[in-house]
Amino acid sequence: MGHRKGAGDDMNTLERGLAGRTAVVTGGAQGIGAAVVARLCAEGCRVLVLDKSAEHGRSAVKDWREHGHEVALAVGDVVDEDAVRAAFAGVPAGWPAPTLLVNLAAGFVFKGLDATPQDWQAALAPTIVGLSLVTREFVAALPPDAAGAAIVNMASISAHIAQSGYLTYNTGKSAVLGFTRCAAQELAPRGVRVNSVSPGTVWNANNERYHREALGLDRATAEAAPEHGGKFLLRRFADPEEIAAPIAFLLSAEAGFITGTDLPVDGGYLAV
Ligand SMILES: NC(=O)c1ccc[n+]([C@@H]2O[C@H](COP(=O)([O-])OP(=O)(O)OC[C@H]3O[C@@H](n4cnc5c(N)ncnc54)[C@H](O)[C@@H]3O)[C@@H](O)[C@H]2O)c1
Repeated sequence: MGHRKGAGDDMNTLERGLAGRTAVVTGGAQGIGAAVVARLCAEGCRVLVLDKSAEHGRSAVKDWREHGHEVALAVGDVVDEDAVRAAFAGVPAGWPAPTLLVNLAAGFVFKGLDATPQDWQAALAPTIVGLSLVTREFVAALPPDAAGAAIVNMASISAHIAQSGYLTYNTGKSAVLGFTRCAAQELAPRGVRVNSVSPGTVWNANNERYHREALGLDRATAEAAPEHGGKFLLRRFADPEEIAAPIAFLLSAEAGFITGTDLPVDGGYLAV
């Protein structure tokens, strides 16, 4: 006999309110974004991934589909207005209009005051202009009754602190906080909530490579070092799934009265 639906199941579905909805995830082909896609699929969402990496996007989407999930890929750069428009126009027929958006694509440029105009462009265009273009298109494509629609933007602990050599990156991430507050105000009349998350260091492929190649450290050694994992109260890095879970919460009906704010997901880093 299969699983029988009980009161708890209904309550769960009712409270979270994510099942059956369409989500758009930018930067969903790898890293934290891929964990977000997997989490939303597990919540019963259909997910459109907008990512500039055709290679990683195709391989991730193939894998998710083989696991029975409904995932579509739009290959494009979030700073390309036409690509963003085409991505939303390409939501597969039969899917509901997207009412969930996770903006993760960002400019990874780490420069100080020596940054050139080109550095600033590369740092801020994806993080802010791309965020704005995708959000604008998402809002334009919302159904008339957008009840329950929600957006989560990716900030960082870097949005809250000074870090040597991070001027360009931290300026972009700080701007994500301002964007989030203003977008929350603008979209509140339609019932659309907008929040951000601020993770600490997440152990993804990039960070693994950086710690191994630049510092000669594996995860356990890096986490034990006071200047790396040791700077977090929990004395470790996060797994991507630990960022995906609070993002799913902020998108869900359980966070129905939360908007215009930032949730640190940082192992206690900002607490001290
Ligand atoms: N990894 C961390 O420790 C950490 C900590 C805090 C915040 N963040 C933020 O989380 C987000 C994801 O980071 P990650 O470490 O998982 O990165 P990642 O490099 O593993 O993945 C980023 C994905 O975004 C895509 N992408 C990048 N620029 C794009 C663009 N202009 N248009 C479309 N797609 C684009 C890439 O192709 C890639 O698939 C970023 O906003 C990052 O700033 C990461």
